[in-house]
Amino acid sequence: MIGKTEYREAMSRLGTAVNIITTDGAAGLAGVTASAVCSVTDDPPTLLVCINRLSRAHPVFLRNGIFCVNVLCGTHELISALFAGSPPMAMEDRFKQVRWRSLATGAPTLEEAAVSFDCVITNVSDVGTHSVFFGHVKGLSIGAAREALIYFARSYHRLPHPEGVAAA
Ligand SMILES: Cc1cc2nc3c(=O)[nH]c(=O)nc-3n(C[C@H](O)[C@H](O)[C@H](O)COP(=O)(O)O)c2cc1C
Repeated sequence: MIGKTEYREAMSRLGTAVNIITTDGAAGLAGVTASAVCSVTDDPPTLLVCINRLSRAHPVFLRNGIFCVNVLCGTHELISALFAGSPPMAMEDRFKQVRWRSLATGAPTLEEAAVSFDCVITNVSDVGTHSVFFGHVKGLSIGAAREALIYFARSYHRLPHPEGVAAA
């Protein structure tokens, strides 16, 4: 039997992009940092996001039925920390720290994101502590060729873009 600590140690070797998952609507505004994001299929364009059911944003995603995946750039470490709860602040105040716009669904889109995937939730599946949200991509915003922000071995790393120059 693989224990939680051993599994977490193993997963720390798997480098990932860092994303802010946002939503807005009748249930309100919410956002959370998440690395558990994966493409499912390009037909129809679909991705998945795994969110802890204890997260403040979780019930808001469920009720609004939409979310936007905002992929962070190399300079966005503080934004990642902010939406992971550090420093602690009211949800509305998290959003005041950076500039947003919106695409198809009305979920907040980070202006300086590497790319944003604006989604309507099509399925939700609960597994252990988390829910897997499947999102049909309704809008896209592709940013400039900037450094990527990577979370690997429990710390942040900046990966140059092969064609890029600009920092965010
Ligand atoms: C780099 C990084 C990746 C994270 N990835 C996830 C994730 O994939 N899913 C998730 O539910 N929480 C993830 N978290 C934790 C959440 O960002 C957050 O700390 C937790 O859900 C509590 O959020 P709240 O204060 O908004 O309730 C991650 C945190 C960090 C710093």
